[in-house]
Amino acid sequence: MSANKDGDGGWKSFIWNSEKKEFLGRTGCSWLKIFIFYVIFYGCLAGIFIGTIQAMLLTLSNYKPKYQDRVAPPGLSHSPRPEKAEFSYSISDPKSYSAYEKHIKEFLTAYDSENQNDESKFEDCGDKPLTYTDRGELESNDGVRKACRFDRAWLKDCSGLNGDKFGFEEGKPCLIVKLNRIVNFRPRPPTSNDSIPVPIQHNVQGNLIPIHCSNKREEDAEHLGPIEYFGLGAGFPLQYYPYYGKLLQPHYLQPLVAIKFRNITLDYEMRIECKVFGENIDYSEKDRSQGRFDIKITIKS
Ligand SMILES: *[C@@H]1O[C@H](CO)[C@@H](O)[C@H](O)[C@H]1NC(C)=O
Ligand SMILES: *[C@@H]1O[C@H](CO)[C@@H](O)[C@H](O)[C@H]1NC(C)=O
Repeated sequence: MSANKDGDGGWKSFIWNSEKKEFLGRTGCSWLKIFIFYVIFYGCLAGIFIGTIQAMLLTLSNYKPKYQDRVAPPGLSHSPRPEKAEFSYSISDPKSYSAYEKHIKEFLTAYDSENQNDESKFEDCGDKPLTYTDRGELESNDGVRKACRFDRAWLKDCSGLNGDKFGFEEGKPCLIVKLNRIVNFRPRPPTSNDSIPVPIQHNVQGNLIPIHCSNKREEDAEHLGPIEYFGLGAGFPLQYYPYYGKLLQPHYLQPLVAIKFRNITLDYEMRIECKVFGENIDYSEKDRSQGRFDIKITIKS
């Protein structure tokens, strides 16, 4: 017990030693020096940290990603987009396809002509496939760039302009297809007819990235029926490229292609592959949506 009392006295004088005017064993002057040392020490650390981050930010562009060399070629995506890309509906049951119609309808809203009226944001880029639209370098001080108009009416039977109908009700469904955006990417059209499916070779003409859908399994050929493509040509016209990014081209509209399946055999699980063709468009076994997509369509009577 007595040892404890002595100990208590020791602690107290350790915390505040009034004789030597020491707090926790150090004088005020000593504490002040330590405090100043650490302020300077951590200040320098923070300075180095902020400095390196600033230096790194200086090398970044606001407008385009620094490292784009490993960006995969664009994905090809479609509306509607059912789970697992499996379309299945019954012509006699409107409820079974209303979600598809709704998806396309919402998707196309951005393409309504009243959303493209503003002359300061949009311009006409012609109504046939033309070469790239040059809107200056990304890094130049040209500010916000205009976007090309895309007229919904070009999608003809699939435009939905006649009462939001997309052919589901008559067993001739539409699919709206786009190439995903990549800043500063210029898709290059095929330069020869080699490796292009015969039916679309006439589309290989220089200013269009052609698209083609076919039966995935050979034995399905007789069940696919004719397919129609609507848009500015049966593919993606070059004048919509390159895309300048969200900051510089906030109103950009991707060109669309509508695909209409005219006569798929009813009550049959049809597997279809759609593919775009271009010099710098590759396909990957890992990413099945790169430059192509697969769908299953089952239309019940
Ligand atoms: C591909 O063939 C079509 C007609 O078969 C022709 O019009 C077109 O110019 C050809 N394209 C190339 C790049 O050879
Ligand atoms: C649709 O395809 C079937 C065969 O699957 C054929 O008998 C029929 O004539 C085709 N209809 C049209 C309008 O092409």
